[in-house]
Amino acid sequence: MKIYTVSKGSTGFDGLKRGERDEPKPGPGQALVRMRAASLNFRDLAIVSGKYVRGPVTQDTIPLSDGAGEVVAVGAGVRTIKVGDRVVATFNQGPNSLGSPLDGVLTEFAAFDENGLLKIPAHMSFDDAATLPCAGVTAWHALMYGKILRAGETVLTLGTGGVSIIALQLAKIAGARVIITSSSDEKLERARKLGADETINYKQHPDWEKRVLELTDGQGADHVVELGGVGTLPHSYQAVGVGGEIALIGVITRPEGDLAPYPLMFKGATLRGIFVGAREHFEGLMRAVTVNQLKPVIDRTFSFDEAVEAYKYLKLAKHFGKVVIKI
Ligand SMILES: NC(=O)c1ccc[n+]([C@@H]2O[C@H](COP(=O)([O-])OP(=O)(O)OC[C@H]3O[C@@H](n4cnc5c(N)ncnc54)[C@H](OP(=O)(O)O)[C@@H]3O)[C@@H](O)[C@H]2O)c1
Repeated sequence: MKIYTVSKGSTGFDGLKRGERDEPKPGPGQALVRMRAASLNFRDLAIVSGKYVRGPVTQDTIPLSDGAGEVVAVGAGVRTIKVGDRVVATFNQGPNSLGSPLDGVLTEFAAFDENGLLKIPAHMSFDDAATLPCAGVTAWHALMYGKILRAGETVLTLGTGGVSIIALQLAKIAGARVIITSSSDEKLERARKLGADETINYKQHPDWEKRVLELTDGQGADHVVELGGVGTLPHSYQAVGVGGEIALIGVITRPEGDLAPYPLMFKGATLRGIFVGAREHFEGLMRAVTVNQLKPVIDRTFSFDEAVEAYKYLKLAKHFGKVVIKI
């Protein structure tokens, strides 16, 4: 079967190599999946460049955590999945994550434990489903757990990448008011078409937290989907309201900032760390997208042969929503 690997010790796109491996056989409790689509996350750029926070690649590894496909064989004892099912894999398979340290989904075939697969809702394509395991589950976990999002509350989400756009979509189906930031007015216009109530260009407004306070009559946001990390956190501390919650998710920016969390103390606000989510979170997300017939936003799709181009495109950060590779 055809695969890509990220080479041991990879520090850049040169570390992405095409290769061949024998097709895996499904062991007891496993299903063999003919992969049809994979999506890219910011994490995948960090992995190939050797900058992933959880460490560099220590052996040649099939990349990408998020993939969907069709079951072509099942091993002994499999009960919940059958040949022909359209499935999507969970980000974590047991205690480890796909794409690093486990082999990921940029391959023609992969074997998964049946508990690591969910059925794809009828209204979704393989491409759609492949956008959900990391970005979708993370956004769901951020909004629907911890301080649970209630209709009428304000959600602030940063940028227009994969997590932020699905967070916008999920917040809207939950009845929230959404404020979204971007470096691009054109992307902000697209966000409005998806339902964003208020938009802020963070290049034109480097102190964007002041705009958030103006837009909320000084109250601040109830929920912040914090994707920027060190460079945006001090602003998010100011933008969150009394009793609000910042879901600590991203590490996009790296400049120094004053991270002392005291502004949260006076507001009784919470900073909650998120690491994607469990199967339970993914099941809840699937119910929500099915009932609301929600379709994730795919900016662009690439072919398997163009996988390296897809990575380079994600790095340019011109995308809005998700970047997908068809397999
Ligand atoms: N903790 C977890 O479990 C978890 C899970 C998923 C993702 N993440 C992290 O979350 C972050 C986003 O991931 P992703 O896959 O959605 O990334 P992505 O699709 O690559 O999105 C990147 C976007 O971030 C925006 N951005 C860049 N600088 C910004 C700034 N200073 N302020 C606000 N937005 C800025 C840009 O939006 P504009 O072009 O609109 O400016 C850019 O397009 C990454 O750090 C990723 O590692 C963490």
